[in-house]
Amino acid sequence: MTQPVILAISNRKGGTGKTTTAVNLAAEWASRGRRVLVVDLDSQGHAGFGLGVDAASFAPTTHDLFRDALFDIRTAVRATAWSNLWCVPADPLYDGSGSCRDVTGLARQLRRPEMDAYDIIILDTPPSLDLVLTSALTASDGVLIPLLPHALSVEGVKQLSRLFYKTVTGGNPDLKLIGLLPIMASNRIGHHRAVIADITQQFGPERVLRPIRGDIQLAAAFADRRPIRHFAPRSRGALDYYLLADELAAFWRLLSPAARSEPAPQKLQPEVS
Ligand SMILES: Nc1ncnc2c1ncn2[C@@H]1O[C@H](COP(=O)(O)OP(=O)(O)OP(=O)(O)O)[C@@H](O)[C@H]1O
Ligand SMILES: [Mg+2]
Repeated sequence: MTQPVILAISNRKGGTGKTTTAVNLAAEWASRGRRVLVVDLDSQGHAGFGLGVDAASFAPTTHDLFRDALFDIRTAVRATAWSNLWCVPADPLYDGSGSCRDVTGLARQLRRPEMDAYDIIILDTPPSLDLVLTSALTASDGVLIPLLPHALSVEGVKQLSRLFYKTVTGGNPDLKLIGLLPIMASNRIGHHRAVIADITQQFGPERVLRPIRGDIQLAAAFADRRPIRHFAPRSRGALDYYLLADELAAFWRLLSPAARSEPAPQKLQPEVS
């Protein structure tokens, strides 16, 4: 029995493509035969929305973790319309006032032996620096940081980096920085190039991933509540997330010995160069 790899997708800044990345990376890996669980930790509920899963009234949600010490997260897992892909939806009414303040509660839930039902767990995190984000980093093997290549976004990365190192020196010494993922980046924009050069210098070239280009189809897929590979498989966004899933597979192998025999990915035929 192998425990799942747990990835947090985080940035202190809002609107940097965290949820878009969580949903589309999850769908990519699920299509390659991985059993993927997306845990929506953001009370905006966008990851569940993008995967077509609603938080039904009185149904358990991720945020019950912060209210009830005996809550079992497995009771909140919901199937999506796609095979190998599940989601724990967020509670849109969660206001941060739960009585369980223990940052290790989420880790304990996700590290239960029964979670070997999944190969990978993706945590979509809120932009707020709070118990929920700290719990996510404490529970994770790795963190992926999507960022818009703008100066303010880099500030958000620096703030997250501080929390990252605090978590590493505190409760989770094994947490790894998987990489920084430029979102809506264009090589033709001087400021984008300058910001990417800056983060490359600060974090090292091996930590800066191939960018996701701007593609309005990614926003349209959200509105249609489908991952991009199912909504517009020949789009630029679908190609970029397909390639990102490939790029991260190397890192994933490093984390999970069981993932070494990866099945061949289902081919997409992007029409964009
Ligand atoms: N590559 C892209 N091209 C075009 N639009 C994009 C792209 N990535 C994300 N978007 C759009 O940008 C907006 C913000 O993306 P998203 O919701 O994924 O960010 P987020 O970091 O999760 O935000 P929040 O901090 O509010 O949770 C959404 O409307 C999304 O559809
Ligand atoms: Mg989000």
